[in-house]
Amino acid sequence: MAQSQFEVQEIHTKDEYARLVDVLWTANFQPYNPVFTAVHPVTGHTPEDRIRDKALDTEIRWAAHEKNPASHLIYVIDKQNGRVAGGCEWLIFRENPFPNGPQPIPCTWYPKGSERAEYTSRFLSQAFFPRQCWFQRAHAGVNAMGVHPDYRRRGVGRLLMQWGHDRIDPLGYESFIEGSPIGRWLYEECGYRRVVSLNIDLDKKDPSEEWSRLVYECRPPAILLLWRPPRGEWTEKVPPGPWAVTAETWR
Ligand SMILES: CC(C)(COP(=O)(O)OP(=O)(O)OC[C@H]1O[C@@H](n2cnc3c(N)ncnc32)[C@H](O)[C@@H]1OP(=O)(O)O)[C@@H](O)C(=O)NCCC(=O)NCCS
Repeated sequence: MAQSQFEVQEIHTKDEYARLVDVLWTANFQPYNPVFTAVHPVTGHTPEDRIRDKALDTEIRWAAHEKNPASHLIYVIDKQNGRVAGGCEWLIFRENPFPNGPQPIPCTWYPKGSERAEYTSRFLSQAFFPRQCWFQRAHAGVNAMGVHPDYRRRGVGRLLMQWGHDRIDPLGYESFIEGSPIGRWLYEECGYRRVVSLNIDLDKKDPSEEWSRLVYECRPPAILLLWRPPRGEWTEKVPPGPWAVTAETWR
């Protein structure tokens, strides 16, 4: 594998981030990822819609990144031609990020009060509920992992994972991912194991046409909760899941 062809870099400007957003949108429409459409502002599918929607996505997520000291946006550059091959967000929480316990997660990228916003909020609040309950401590996570179809199965995803593990392993942090069946094999290769599979409940009694369409277009597959203990060491000390970790566990 020609890994030296690639370089992992941390993103420091909104313009750099816009280049990654472009690749993440391509990665998540090939194949079509129903979750992506819920959690990003997808207002249509014409080339003009894409330009506008990606610009809004860049604005929203860059603003969130700037507000969150745990967020590291990284991408992999193909040194031969300067293209962005893929990227992700690493979250490295140096203290308990959920001191107030689990909270509903609002959707700010679809109009307030719309069924789209309600749908997305229901999805996100369920998907992130286990993390918010179990990880009342310093830990890490990965969001928005995507590799351009031109670069798949060439070790780019592995490089993105390695970037984070190089930083959290010396700190002894656990890592946790709300993954999809597509990402699963990459994460398992990198020391994660599925501890729970979530079936998100998006049913509604007497749904509107809009809600039924959303369920059709955006029904998430099983959300796989993947866990990696400190340094990826699956020793006899490791309990059955992150919910069973106590202050004494890793001593
Ligand atoms: C998931 C994804 C990020 C993987 O990126 P990638 O750069 O192709 O992954 P890598 O080449 O680093 O793969 C490392 C290892 O993971 C496993 N793996 C990765 N993709 C796999 C696949 N589609 N099928 C089976 N195993 C896979 C393999 O063991 C692979 O090693 P190998 O190629 O030597 O056998 C990429 O397929 C993608 O962007 N998919 C669309 C977006 C998405 O679903 N993201 C995940 C959200 S949770």
